[in-house]
Amino acid sequence: MEKIALGVCSSISIYKAGEIIRLFQEEGYAVRVIMTEKATQFINPYLFDSLTGEKTIISLFDERQRPIEHISLAGEISLLLVAPATANMIGKLASGVADDFLSTFYLAVKCPVLIAPAMNEAMYLHPQTQENIRRLKKLGVEFVEPESGYLACGQKGIGRLASPEKIVQKSLRLIRRREIFQDKIVLITAGPTREFLDPVRFLSNPSSGKMGYELAREAYELGAEVILVSGPVELEPPPEVYIEKVVTAEEMRKAVLKHYERADVVIMAAAVADFKFREHLPAKIKKDSLSESLAIENTPDILQELGKLKSRQLLVGFAAETTEILERAEKKLKQKNLDLMIANDVSVPDSGFGSGYNEILLLWPDGRSRKIPRATKRKISQEIFSEIEVLLHERPRN
Ligand code: CTP
Repeated sequence: MEKIALGVCSSISIYKAGEIIRLFQEEGYAVRVIMTEKATQFINPYLFDSLTGEKTIISLFDERQRPIEHISLAGEISLLLVAPATANMIGKLASGVADDFLSTFYLAVKCPVLIAPAMNEAMYLHPQTQENIRRLKKLGVEFVEPESGYLACGQKGIGRLASPEKIVQKSLRLIRRREIFQDKIVLITAGPTREFLDPVRFLSNPSSGKMGYELAREAYELGAEVILVSGPVELEPPPEVYIEKVVTAEEMRKAVLKHYERADVVIMAAAVADFKFREHLPAKIKKDSLSESLAIENTPDILQELGKLKSRQLLVGFAAETTEILERAEKKLKQKNLDLMIANDVSVPDSGFGSGYNEILLLWPDGRSRKIPRATKRKISQEIFSEIEVLLHERPRN
């Protein structure tokens, strides 16, 4: 099992370390915690012992450890994450001070190092702290920026530890990145679109955006530059992903076309509404003044247009079907000039639309197909990207 070392310093946000450990474990990683002496004033190390099933390391001279533990452990881990990291620890690491286990360990590791700072705004923005961060970045150390909000001191500002999800996603990007995705731009659409009749009524569908966001997360973790064009959804995008928020199919079309030329891989995971009202009224229609019929028309088929414009892009589409899945998906694959089609049966309960799960059939233009049985959308997106990786390897380099 791959292992991560989690350095924990004395900050109020130390309670989030438990959530970080849990998220790593869900991804199949073992975690070894290293606490500073001062951090033990906030939390008893026994909590981390219980969560990780391994003895938390505090001191260089702890009898419970292997001799020269900092050297043995350094060879076993894929990442050193320091979260939360105090101004003091960042200062020590930036200047090579090695006076406790964590700062000594930092000098012994060869794997990537990620730091998630947490402190008061004045301390974070202090030129000395910023200089220390710059020095560490120059040495190849990566950072997850703190967030703005209420700080432990009661003030509002920047300095809150980033969310455990963001910290873990950035960590995974450092561990999982793949050579082939390093210089690739992946453009993904997600969520539904809304086609308004008047300011309060629209045509749409139950898409939650989960599939597209999971694909964006996977592309991000594999090391790609990700552009996410998203319809209205209630989801947090992965960190460092460029997001364009749109509402209508026409807005989505414009946003996608803007980035299409630069993209290496394009995945249309959005459930674009197929119809819109012919009229879009500026004021709310009164219920007693409704006409008997409302005229509707087709929205632009974005993927079809992308298929026609395709030059070097690897184009991936989805097919949401309820009947004759294989036949209809094959037809769309050809019609839209795709390199990979992902068909899903949206009539299966707790699968596809709105669900955390999916069950898909992958189709290639040469007639090959592969079924991926019901799994979480996270797992499904990993399978999709392993196939995209194969396709990228087969392409001539440009
Ligand atoms: N799509 C699109 N623009 C639209 C409709 C769909 O780009 N106006 C894309 C979807 O994002 C998806 C693929 O086309 O990747 C297939 O979508 P789907 O709804 O399954 O098929 P449609 O082409 O809309 O055909 P139908 O609804 O008649 O099955």
